[in-house]
Amino acid sequence: MKKCLNDPIFSIISQVGINENTPVFVIGGFVRDLLLKRPSKDIDIVALGSGIEIAKNVAKKLGPNVNVSVFKNFGTAMIKSGDYEIEFVGARKESYRQNSRKPIVENGTLEDDQNRRDFTINALAISLNKEDYGRLIDPFEGEKDLKNKVIKTPLDPDKTFSDDPLRMFRAIRFASQLNFNIEENTYNSIGENIDRINILSKERIIDELNKILLSPKPSIGLKALENSGLLREFFPELQILKGVDKKNGKMHKDNFYHTIEVVDNIRNKTEDLWLMWAALLHDIAKPKTKRYCKEVGWTFHGHEHMGAKMIPIIFKRLKLPLNEKMKYVQKLVQLHLRPIVLSQNIVTDSAIRRLLFDAGDEIDDLMQLCEADITSKNESTVQKYLNNFKIVREKLLEIEEKDTLRNFQPPISGELIIETFDIKPSKLVGDIKNAIKEAILEGEIHNDYNEAFNFMLKIANDYGLSPKK
Ligand code: CTP
Repeated sequence: MKKCLNDPIFSIISQVGINENTPVFVIGGFVRDLLLKRPSKDIDIVALGSGIEIAKNVAKKLGPNVNVSVFKNFGTAMIKSGDYEIEFVGARKESYRQNSRKPIVENGTLEDDQNRRDFTINALAISLNKEDYGRLIDPFEGEKDLKNKVIKTPLDPDKTFSDDPLRMFRAIRFASQLNFNIEENTYNSIGENIDRINILSKERIIDELNKILLSPKPSIGLKALENSGLLREFFPELQILKGVDKKNGKMHKDNFYHTIEVVDNIRNKTEDLWLMWAALLHDIAKPKTKRYCKEVGWTFHGHEHMGAKMIPIIFKRLKLPLNEKMKYVQKLVQLHLRPIVLSQNIVTDSAIRRLLFDAGDEIDDLMQLCEADITSKNESTVQKYLNNFKIVREKLLEIEEKDTLRNFQPPISGELIIETFDIKPSKLVGDIKNAIKEAILEGEIHNDYNEAFNFMLKIANDYGLSPKK
């Protein structure tokens, strides 16, 4: 292990520990990531004594510009050094109450501190002390679990999860991030402790869900959330996408498995969390709009509109931001069928203009979502759609170059109409403006001031208006 700790910061911390006569260890996620060769910038140091004193002395050694943030109530201190954020804490023993994630904390030994941790792979420590600098302290065979790709609690999982139910989400999140399996007892215990999640804040749960969405293959985590029963508890709208109905020999696809495949597809193209959310929610209203009709089988008419309506409700309940991020997701859900419809028909210029006008800056993300939405097992069907989308994309480029519609600003303002014809603000002003916009979208005129002005004169004439002298 010694050679892994080659950053000078570790020998500085070690030296301070020796001077203060306080044993110090690197512990937790940093050690896990070191063994996995994953880059990690958060270092946790546990001291058998005061973590805050060690932090203050380390900061002194690092130089006059290094600040220590002390969180007295938690007995922790934090230093930033280069790219690293280093947190110092005294070794602790924790006990939990029934209705809170906040433990009662006492000073403890290194062993107590390792016992209180969530998973064997997160309970690893490395000594920074003189006698055994660099020694891995691994009481629960965490190194073996890392090799075997296993997530397992160090103690009885019922205790670990009941103490802090967030760990059930963390187990699934790590499984998704690292492509690990959750050990059977640990996994079963999630099912047993589901009702404990009522002491968790939505923000914490969503934080874990976001990490799952951004993991290399989010479907691993999403499947486990569903399978374990957690999803049903905190996100029933997503849960009820699961299942297939059959009538007169006609089936529809399982919308849960379809959705998580779309999420995987889009994850291969982007790291944008909100585009991931749009993928997660694109079919959210399918259960509510599902109908069976003899002629065509199963339909989900209007699921994009109903879905868009559901977004603010879901965002509010899950404490997601109710700002432009939500509007972005809503817009993509609302529009997600438009390019498909276009690609199935002859692509007219006016249909492309309308899509550009409605999608605005989100057009590229919308196209990505639609391409990710093709999940057919039939390779030639996939190719057919992708080719059609290619045509839509080419047309989009062509029209955009000509008409600059992406951030459409009406070339003629309401004020100009009022001024030109000396009329009062009224519905008529809106009608004229709208007629100009329609003419642009239909390709009758270009998105150009002079053409739009002449068109306005013509329309106004039909309404019996003439320009003031
Ligand atoms: N930990 C825990 N239970 C929790 C949260 C954290 O036991 N609910 C312990 C684990 O030992 C973990 C360490 O605290 O390794 C640090 O936690 P954190 O920084 O949240 O997670 P990391 O494991 O470092 O992973 P990541 O940075 O990816 O969240």
